[in-house]
Parts: sequence; C-alpha cells; structure tokens
Amino acid sequence: MLLTLQRIPAFSTTVFCRCSAEFLQRHCSRMLSKKVRVSDALSGKETGSNIRIQGWVRSVRPQKDNLFLHVNDGSSLKPLQVVASSHLNTRDLTFGCAVDITGTLEKSINKRQNVELHAQHIKVVGECNPVDFPFKIKERHSLEYVRQFPHLRCRTNAFSSLLRIRSEATTAIQSFFRDNGYVQIHTPVITSNDCEGAGELFQVEPAGHKNDSDDPNPHFFSVPAYLTVSAQLHLEVMAGAFSAVYTFGPTFRAENSQSRRHLAEFYMVEAEIAFTESLDDLMKVMEDLFKAATEHVLSCCAEDVELFHKYIAPGNRDQVDLMLKRKFNVISYTEAIDILKSSSQNFTFSTEWGCDLQTEHEKFLVKHCGNVPVFVINYPYELKPFYARDNQDQPNHTAAAVDLLVPGVGELCGGSLREERLELLSQRLARAGLEDTHAWYLQLREFGSVPHGGFGMGFERYLQCILGLHNIKDVIPFARFSHSCLL
Ligand code: 4AD
Ligand code: MG
Repeated sequence: MLLTLQRIPAFSTTVFCRCSAEFLQRHCSRMLSKKVRVSDALSGKETGSNIRIQGWVRSVRPQKDNLFLHVNDGSSLKPLQVVASSHLNTRDLTFGCAVDITGTLEKSINKRQNVELHAQHIKVVGECNPVDFPFKIKERHSLEYVRQFPHLRCRTNAFSSLLRIRSEATTAIQSFFRDNGYVQIHTPVITSNDCEGAGELFQVEPAGHKNDSDDPNPHFFSVPAYLTVSAQLHLEVMAGAFSAVYTFGPTFRAENSQSRRHLAEFYMVEAEIAFTESLDDLMKVMEDLFKAATEHVLSCCAEDVELFHKYIAPGNRDQVDLMLKRKFNVISYTEAIDILKSSSQNFTFSTEWGCDLQTEHEKFLVKHCGNVPVFVINYPYELKPFYARDNQDQPNHTAAAVDLLVPGVGELCGGSLREERLELLSQRLARAGLEDTHAWYLQLREFGSVPHGGFGMGFERYLQCILGLHNIKDVIPFARFSHSCLL
C-alpha cells in the first residue's frame, strides 16, 4: 500500500500522511499483537489488548451500531464472539470467510460467553461467497449432505468435532500403550504377506506396470507385494524381543467399502504380547484399552462428544456409560451358536456350528448380553487363519481366538493366541501350502519361541461405537465415494 501511494505524484501530502499513519498503526498493532487460539481465548487466560485471532466466520450479525461475529479456528467447538463498531463491517465479511482480527479480549457481560474480542481491525483474508458455499448459516446439515463435500466438510461443526475427537482418541491409545510398557513399532505398509489369508489384497506395482509373462522378473519387489491387511506377523517378530509391542497405522482391505462398517483403507491398532498363555490376558488388555481411551475422550473432548450424543445419536451417552461401568461379557462360540439357535429370530445366514458369525448374529448377541460388549472365544479351528493356536479339543475342534462384539457396530476387535508349537505350526502351514513363503515365521518358533498372542482393533469402528455413528464414512477424514474423485 505504501508503495502504491508513493507512485501517485498528485497524491497530497495530507492524504499520504493520514493513510500511512493508519497503515502504520494497523501494521504495528498486528506486529505487536499476540496471536491466540480461540480455545485459549475462551478459557479466559489471555485477556487484554492487542490480541490477534485468525479463523473463519461462523456467523455475522450486523446491528445499528455494532457488528457481532462468531469466529472459529478449529481449536474448539465453541466460537469466539467478536464485537466491532459497525463501520468495520464490509461486504466481503460473510459466513465462511477467513479473517484476521486484532482487538481487546475482555470478560463479557453477556452470560452466554465468558469473554469477547472487541475488534479494532478486521481483515478479510479469504472471501467466501455465501450463495455458492454449500453450507448455510444457521442450518443444520445432515451427515449425508456434508459427505458430498469431502474437501469442505471439516468446516462444519459436527465434522470438526469428530476430527478433534479422532485426534484425542489417537493420543489416548498411544498413552495407554506407553503407560503399560509397550514399545511402538512402525510396521511396513508394503509387504508380501497376506496375514489373514482372506485374499482381500491390493497389489502394489509401479504405475504403468505391465504383467509381461516373458519377463523373468515381472514384479518391482521381485515377489508380489501388497498393501498390508494386518501388521500382526511383523509384531510377532518384535514381540520376540520386546515382550509387548503395538502399532497403530493404515490398513487396507480390498473388500466391499459400500458397507456401513467396512472401508478399503482404515486404521488398526494392533498389540502383540509375549509370555501370554491365556485369552483372559488378551481380553483384559482389550477391555482396559477400550475403557481407558473412552474415559480420556469423554473428559478431554466433553463438548465435542456432547454434540454427537445430543443431536446425532441421542441415547448413546447412556450406552457409553453402561459400557464403562459394566464388566464385558465372555461367551464361547459354541454358547453363541446355542443362543442364536434357541432364539425366535429368523436369521438370513446359517447359525449351524462351524459357520462364521455375521453382523446380524453379532448384533443379536450383544443385545442378548444387555447391550454390554461381549467377547466370543474359541472359534471353530477351520474358520481361523493358520496362526491361531489349536485348542486340540473334541468333538468341536476349536482355536484360541477371540472377537470383541460391541453395541451398534458388531465386531470391534479380533485376536488370538498364536500357535507357538513348531510341529503343529509347520503342519498347518504345509496344509495351507505356505511353508516356503513362511519359512521365516517358522524360524521364530525355533529360536526362543514363547506362548504369545495379540489382537487388532478397528479404530473407525471404535469411534462409531462411542459416538453412536451409523456410517463408518462419517468417522474418517476423507471418505471415498463412487461418485467423487479420490482426494
Ligand atoms: O479381525 P481382523 O481381520 O484381525 C486381524 O487382522 C488380526 N490379524 C489382528 C491381530 O490379531 N493383530 O481385523 C481386526 C479389526 C476388526 O475387528 C475390525 O474392527 C477392523 O479391524 N476391520 C475393519 N475396519 C474397517 N474396515 C474394514 N474393512 C475392516 N476390516 C477389519
Ligand atoms: Mg475379524
């Protein structure tokens, strides 16, 4: 601005002085001002002059003498009220625009807010045409509607609350493992193992790669490589040296991502514990993790969680309190089948012993257990992957595997004791034709093998469960839809 003025020869000295004085005042006050996050401003710790807030306008209320704004910078659900003289109002100060405001932060006389910012300067940093902007002031948009705008939905209250909760839940999970002596391992995203053996793999090759049958080495990594479906086998390696390990990272499954509880890319928390001989030990870790993380989220994100429990999933708060208060149930797979068979409900899928439990069965079992999470243990041996420990029982041959079923979601965690006995494991790998590719895995049983076990918890399903959200696409930062390009 100063430069522009100097280039105008006819500009009078008085105008120049007035403009440059204003310019200097505004810029000096910005330079001397203290930048404060909205959440810190709202806490009342930072009152005084020359406070600077940067964020996005959530409401504009012009009155005769004054202008009232609500400004949010993503640090809290509550916005900061800004009061300004109406001469600071401009046409580009609209719902959704980005602003940089300097002023005095004072205790408010209005009971609805603790403090308010009395603005001296308001700069519109980025305009937002309210007609074209897909979200409208004072309208509560449905989750289905905001899902259409994966690049903008973080500007809505519900989704910004979700992302703060997601961030805090991540911290809670990391703290739980750190406080309990686990070592965090960064396991590979690209791997050649299909841990679960279910074939739900995304193969990884360089872009433009052609599968040429004449090429002696058609693969970039010399063997077929995939995006990880589980870090379990890598964690088993590490549990053999660190006793208790965990990882928390992206996981990929080429399965139907149109379902309300399946994603092609999701986050999984996985733990592996050496010197563990009983499913009880694993179940204790799962229950403690669930309860510790949830208590942390409820206390650190109280307002954000309340938004969901008040407006989106009424009744879910009582459900969460019940889950925290009560001890989780434990039933065997065989008992689960008996419960399903003796019920009067008509299920779509078979309830014969040996069949996998489907979502409809899981929901029924959770309800049957009083809407308190339930561990189902000892699944049919043939249903579980090669690594699950053989219970060597009869006549129902089972493996020491466990699933945790929770209200609203169904399966939240899957885990097992691992087959640590060399002989039994090598026989099972041979039956599955995996003895060559898994020679290294067998070696773990040759050199200092110990009884061990672990589990994986789907992070998105965890968030669905505590917030009462029906659709898994509402708990991930960027959802994928058939109609939208990938962000
Ligand atoms: O039951 P899963 O397949 O277990 C494993 O992968 C084990 N190897 C884990 C271990 O023992 N270390 O997956 C674990 C959890 C499921 O219970 C579910 O919550 C979640 O991961 N999950 C999914 N979440 C979202 N979308 C999908 N497609 C999911 N598949 C599994
Ligand atoms: Mg499972």
